[in-house]
Amino acid sequence: MFNKEKISLENHLKFIENLPENKIYLKIGNLGVINFKIIKDTAELGLHKNPNKKGVGKILLNEAINYAFNNLKSKKIVLYVFEDNLKAINLYKKFKFKEVDKKDNIIKMEIIKNEELKTGSPKNQKIFWGIKENGE
Ligand SMILES: CC(C)(COP(=O)(O)OP(=O)(O)OC[C@H]1O[C@@H](n2cnc3c(N)ncnc32)[C@H](O)[C@@H]1OP(=O)(O)O)[C@@H](O)C(=O)NCCC(=O)NCCS
Repeated sequence: MFNKEKISLENHLKFIENLPENKIYLKIGNLGVINFKIIKDTAELGLHKNPNKKGVGKILLNEAINYAFNNLKSKKIVLYVFEDNLKAINLYKKFKFKEVDKKDNIIKMEIIKNEELKTGSPKNQKIFWGIKENGE
């Protein structure tokens, strides 16, 4: 997330080999990869679409939110994004992520499970998150 340079295959493989145990990487078909760093009941999210695909960010983010809240049972999802990455920021805002902090040129955003329920969002939003009517 914090590297704007081209990553060599060698460095990429080294990175995969040295991944700590609290990290999860999920390949979503051929659409892209989502990754989580688990810190207690918070999942820190990363999102990378397949550069050959168009318009898949929404699918990846929907998968990521469902996985974090329903499989990992996380209570909160946080992410960090460069302030000039408007594409990603707009996508996150669309999914109700809120900016909670900013350091240098990096914005921290988060979404809390069931927040949408408390704020009375439309019914289809609940289905979208994979969260049941009773908030489980
Ligand atoms: C961020 C990323 C996942 C977005 O994927 P994407 O396939 O472009 O996203 P989508 O086409 O599904 O767009 C979803 C929303 O993003 C926003 N968006 C898309 N393209 C945009 C652009 N050029 N400018 C501003 N906002 C844009 C729009 O709100 C769009 O919703 P809409 O289509 O209903 O208007 C993708 O660009 C990516 O993998 N980038 C490289 C890695 C990265 O930056 N990851 C995030 C780091 S935190």
